[in-house]
Amino acid sequence: MDVIRSAVRMKEVAQDWRRRGLPVALVPTMGALHDGHLALVRTAGQHASTVVASLFVNPIQFGPREDLARYPRDLDGDLRKLRSAGATHVFAPEASEMYPEGFQTRVVLERLPEHLCGRSRPGHFAGVATVVLKLFHLCGPTVAVFGMKDYQQVLVVERMVRDLDLDVRIVRHPTVREPDGLAMSSRNAYLTPKERRVAPELYATLRALRDLVVAGERDVSRLVTAGRDRLGKAGFAVEYLEVVDPDTLDPATSLDAPCVAAVAARLGSTRLIDNLQLVPSDAEECTR
Ligand code: PAF
Repeated sequence: MDVIRSAVRMKEVAQDWRRRGLPVALVPTMGALHDGHLALVRTAGQHASTVVASLFVNPIQFGPREDLARYPRDLDGDLRKLRSAGATHVFAPEASEMYPEGFQTRVVLERLPEHLCGRSRPGHFAGVATVVLKLFHLCGPTVAVFGMKDYQQVLVVERMVRDLDLDVRIVRHPTVREPDGLAMSSRNAYLTPKERRVAPELYATLRALRDLVVAGERDVSRLVTAGRDRLGKAGFAVEYLEVVDPDTLDPATSLDAPCVAAVAARLGSTRLIDNLQLVPSDAEECTR
């Protein structure tokens, strides 16, 4: 496995792949890898024999009061895990490689970031779109794999790819969960043992909402109230719990069409997010 630290070198290597017409799959990550990331890497390996994983804690997607400084970092551990999951290349630049002195460009989407996480994290999705576009340019993937826990992020990246005519296919990977249902996330490491025992309630609540819809509930606000009450009683501070259109993220007005329940809630100082498709279908996660 080749570890590349320089943006210039990464671009040279990627240009060579492109000249040779090689399919390349990219898994963008911020490191602190867990089994969810490794599932993305293994899936990437089904799409291309060259699999690049990027390890980069992207400063411009963190707000001033967010957890950039304490975000977990473990380069050696990450490299070991990536090797065993079948990555062929790792791109792990320093921040100064990605954002040299004077950097001032942002990729800004107009509507998707107005919803859900975008409301409490201004500038977050511009930071994500900017770094993902740079990673696409530097690593030259034909395919890129993203996890559906970050549902809004996937929509933002897909929209950017369409709007900017990028030659990369986005693969949606279903959320990977712990046996008790908690969505895997690097931020789960912040949870105290007591909070960790409560955390699966987030997904259990989403499932309960889906059960209510399956049982005939058609009133969005009653559904949302039921979810907020349950999470409140469990000890979560709910940032949002919304039922939204799966493509635009506009608030759903009816539960008869496909929609997604999306939630962000804090347990102590840890912010967790999750989502679930509400209209019953073959697939549990919204992986279209
Ligand atoms: O999902 C993440 O880990 C990050 O938002 C990403 C896509 C790697 C961009 O920094």
